Amino acid sequence: MQKKAFEAVVVHTGSPAIIECELIVVPVFKGETTETSFFAELDAATGGQIGQAMLRREFRPNGKDCFITPVTSDAWRARRVALVGVGSNDQMAWRPAAAKIVLTARSSRIRQVGFMVRGEVDGSSFAQAITEGMLFGSFDDRRYKTGDRSDDPHAEEISLNVLCGESTETSVAEGVRRGVAIGTSVNIARELSNEPPNLLTPTVFAERANTIVSAQGVEVEVLDEAAIEGLGMGMILGVAQGSVEPPRLVVMKHNPTDAANHPVLALVGKGVTFDTGGISIKPSADMDQMKHDMGGGAAVVGAMRAIGELQLPVRVIGIVPMVENMPGGKAIRPGDVLVSGCGKTVEVLNTDAEGRLILGDALWYARQLGATHLVDVATLTGSCVIALGKAASGLFGQPEDWVRTIERAANSGGERVWQLPLYDEYTDQLKSEIADLANIGGRAAGACTAAAFLRAFAEGVPWAHVDVAGTAWLEKSKPGAVKGATGVMVSTLTELASMSKEWSLESSSPEV
Ligand code: BES
Ligand code: MN
Ligand code: ZN
Repeated sequence: MQKKAFEAVVVHTGSPAIIECELIVVPVFKGETTETSFFAELDAATGGQIGQAMLRREFRPNGKDCFITPVTSDAWRARRVALVGVGSNDQMAWRPAAAKIVLTARSSRIRQVGFMVRGEVDGSSFAQAITEGMLFGSFDDRRYKTGDRSDDPHAEEISLNVLCGESTETSVAEGVRRGVAIGTSVNIARELSNEPPNLLTPTVFAERANTIVSAQGVEVEVLDEAAIEGLGMGMILGVAQGSVEPPRLVVMKHNPTDAANHPVLALVGKGVTFDTGGISIKPSADMDQMKHDMGGGAAVVGAMRAIGELQLPVRVIGIVPMVENMPGGKAIRPGDVLVSGCGKTVEVLNTDAEGRLILGDALWYARQLGATHLVDVATLTGSCVIALGKAASGLFGQPEDWVRTIERAANSGGERVWQLPLYDEYTDQLKSEIADLANIGGRAAGACTAAAFLRAFAEGVPWAHVDVAGTAWLEKSKPGAVKGATGVMVSTLTELASMSKEWSLESSSPEV
């Protein structure tokens, strides 16, 4: 586990002048006019540098620029000011802007940042977003690097002061509290997904999940191979049988005393600790990346942690089937038929389509446990990466109301989702000669046929599926984000649980 490298404090003050910190960050919204008394005050504090920068167009309110300059005024206690473009008044731009500035600050050995809440924004959401963004930008995963780091600025602790501006201290403090809970959980999910597959086996993943969420008061049950067998979940067992590592099914329950019996939200995450493809083995190039095939499971663990910490007043069950997909002597073969927990039979035509198998059983089990609303998150298909690239996660589901709700949650969480269709033709592609269903539907619309397979196990319960194959992993570092696991969907799932009042009354019968 990483050491605590971040501390957030809320400061209520009218003027940035009295804040003692190394860098004051002033967000500037796209298209904002800078001919105001506020910018004049900044200009005066920096000995005219800010005015000059605007005049020379070194800083433009275009949502992208960043300009840092020393404070010259004795009346100010801060050492430097940064103008940071944060796009238009758009949620999606807030987190990345904060992540970028924290990385810049760190490279200059700045350890104390003051961030202003200003502009036409909801103070609480803005404070939450910048806190999440700063935590995201502070993530530095060098657990397996030995060697001296005493000269590495990224190893230093950083503290954040959030200046309330026009917003009330209560609302900003609430935002910061949510931001810390979610941002920390996102980083924990990233840490889990970056874990090497020899160290994070299903057994270890289950133990880690248990430790992480129990600490926030979430109740945990870890089902071992015998228990999974006892419940008849033949698809989880089938995928696991090619590996010497036994499977686990982790069930996490957030059951607050003040929550109504209805709804019961179930979050289901794919937990393949390594995906070789099995007997339908994958090519070797980039196969190492398949250690993050448990990214959906890590997102569910992260979200359960945040939901527990925030004590959200709604019942939530987190379910993560954990397996390793290996081509061992006992592995399932193309042509094998598996009997799922719900009794449906599945012909395995490709052992590399394993995610849908374990998720099908997990979705069924979620319904057995009383789930009224389902969401699953999975690095499910290469086809989704072809369709949407790394720009958005694929979203599927029914009824439409429930899909719209997931979209709204993603929007508050600053994560992009894009809905893809679930036409009946995709289910037709899954016909098997000898079983109820085949586990693949041919090359055409691979992300959609995978989703159609899952739908068969959600039956009538409102269900959404988020394919994060393109978004759970960053191949190259970019400003504000280091390469590796992204922790995608921790934020969206937590927002979804936060907005339960909005969706609990929606009709729970799918349209036909
Ligand atoms: N884990 C993979 C999907 C994946 C691909 C995740 C790239 C992240 C990045 C999944 O289990 C898989 O192998 N899917 C196959 C399905 C096919 C055999 C029908 C795929 O997409 O090729
Ligand atoms: Mn696979
Ligand atoms: Zn997989």
